[in-house]
Amino acid sequence: MDARAEQKYSLGVVRWFAVMAVVYLVVGASVGVYIASELAWPVLNFDIPQLTFGRLRPLHTNAVIFAFGGCALMATAFYSVQRTCGVRLWSEKLAWFTFWGWNLIIVSAVITLPLGFTQGKEYAELEWPIDVAIAVVWLAYSFNFIMTIAIRKSSHIYVSNWFFLAMMIMITYLHVVNSLSIPVGLFKSYSIFSGVQDAMIQWWWGHNAVGFYLTAGFLGIMYYFVPKQAGRPVYSYRLSVIHFWALTFGYVWLGAHHLQYTALPDWTGSLGAAVSLAMIIPSWGGAINGMMTLSGAWDKLRTDYTLRFLIMSLAFYAMSTFEGPVMSIKTVNALSHYTDWTVGHVHSGALGWVAMVGAGAIYHLITRCFHTEMWSAKLINVHFWLFTIGTVVYIVAMWVSGIMQGLMWRAYDEYGTLVYTFAESVEAMHPYYAMRAIGGAIFLSGAVLMLINVVMTVRKSAAEGKVDQARTAALASA
Ligand code: HEM
Ligand code: HEM
Repeated sequence: MDARAEQKYSLGVVRWFAVMAVVYLVVGASVGVYIASELAWPVLNFDIPQLTFGRLRPLHTNAVIFAFGGCALMATAFYSVQRTCGVRLWSEKLAWFTFWGWNLIIVSAVITLPLGFTQGKEYAELEWPIDVAIAVVWLAYSFNFIMTIAIRKSSHIYVSNWFFLAMMIMITYLHVVNSLSIPVGLFKSYSIFSGVQDAMIQWWWGHNAVGFYLTAGFLGIMYYFVPKQAGRPVYSYRLSVIHFWALTFGYVWLGAHHLQYTALPDWTGSLGAAVSLAMIIPSWGGAINGMMTLSGAWDKLRTDYTLRFLIMSLAFYAMSTFEGPVMSIKTVNALSHYTDWTVGHVHSGALGWVAMVGAGAIYHLITRCFHTEMWSAKLINVHFWLFTIGTVVYIVAMWVSGIMQGLMWRAYDEYGTLVYTFAESVEAMHPYYAMRAIGGAIFLSGAVLMLINVVMTVRKSAAEGKVDQARTAALASA
């Protein structure tokens, strides 16, 4: 079986993307814990510009979304497309180009963001030369994926590939349009959009980075890895197709819910809110479809720790896709916007859904690509609990602090004067910011255990010569 997999598929590049995803998860979460601690204990800025919250925050978001998320998406898409299409990657060279190109982009981000080079657009901070590189490498990734589907041996295209395809097409389009700018130097450019159009385009990108990258892409992961790990077909294939079309049609309309009560025409916010509410239906349909894949085999959760990650991620996916639509309602948004409630919502999606499903998929494919069991199954279980507890502590802290912030800012006395000064609301946040830093540290320790487990598994596989044996057997049988 090992030899057959080694002969039939390109696994080398998948191995490297998977390992790097875990490395970047540790790096990104460490920066997260550091900036969370800066908010609780500002002395940690040390008056060094490169260490300030403003410089490190985009480093955190770029590291977790594009470095961890990107490598996880590339590893899983390249792995699953080969298996579902029954062929090798169309071009191994192009896949390696994607690997080195993506990592070079990450290194450029790590250097330029702390130095203060930024376009100031959230999740699109990187300056124009890096934006051009992102477009080229992303297209190389997408083209290779599409061509692998084109040369497939199976008759139909499995649903996970549809989700990956939607992500690739939409992210190309969104990234290119939102990044259109006029360079005035190697490290400075100005967006071609201005004023309200700039805001609208930015949040059309911003929300769809969530909708297509952090959601559709990771749903691609879910639809392949949940049934594989559970050893059962997906609960309803028909539901997955409905999920796909409803999600891809709906998500592109939501951007304006980030801009309620701004200079944007009021109807755009109402439209965004209405479609956001409707999104509960496909999102919950998808979550239920994933969970019900286990129906009749729930006992597997007792012993299969990797499966626990995948199923728990669906619970968080359902939770954050209920919370998001509620927050898009104008009256709720009037309270939640600008507060930590938004940050809590983000991390219930990011930690509970994206990181959990990513970790589950990586555990699954590491064993298949290195042809050996994980070094320690117990450590996977400890990791699972650290992720779950850390995420819950983080999001509970942010809910309490966010709702309290919103209520303090809008409290008036009988003379119409604000009851609290802004500084008082900041002071009230302190215990919750400390609690978030602790939750983050718990989550981070889970990620560190995962890295140790993965490194030890790779070393175990190397010591036993598993990959070499599989390659030699593959050559002999060719
Ligand atoms: C140890 C774990 C983590 C900690 C302690 C942490 C902490 C933080 C902090 C303090 C912020 C800034 C909040 C603010 O501006 O008030 C932030 C923002 C953000 N983080 Fe994390 N983070 C962690 C992991 C992650 C992961 C794994 C992801 C994604 C997969 C993620 C995605 C984001 C995003 C998208 C934002 C921007 C939120 C917004 O603009 O509302 N984080 N994080
Ligand atoms: C049906 C699904 C969802 C809807 C309708 C939705 C809706 C919303 C709303 C209304 C906001 C607050 C906008 C504001 O006041 O500025 C928001 C923020 C955010 N959501 Fe969601 N959400 C959904 C699912 C998710 C998921 C699954 C994730 C993560 C993987 C996520 C990540 C984010 C991020 C990163 C932000 C912060 C953007 C920023 O201000 O920087 N959302 N979402």
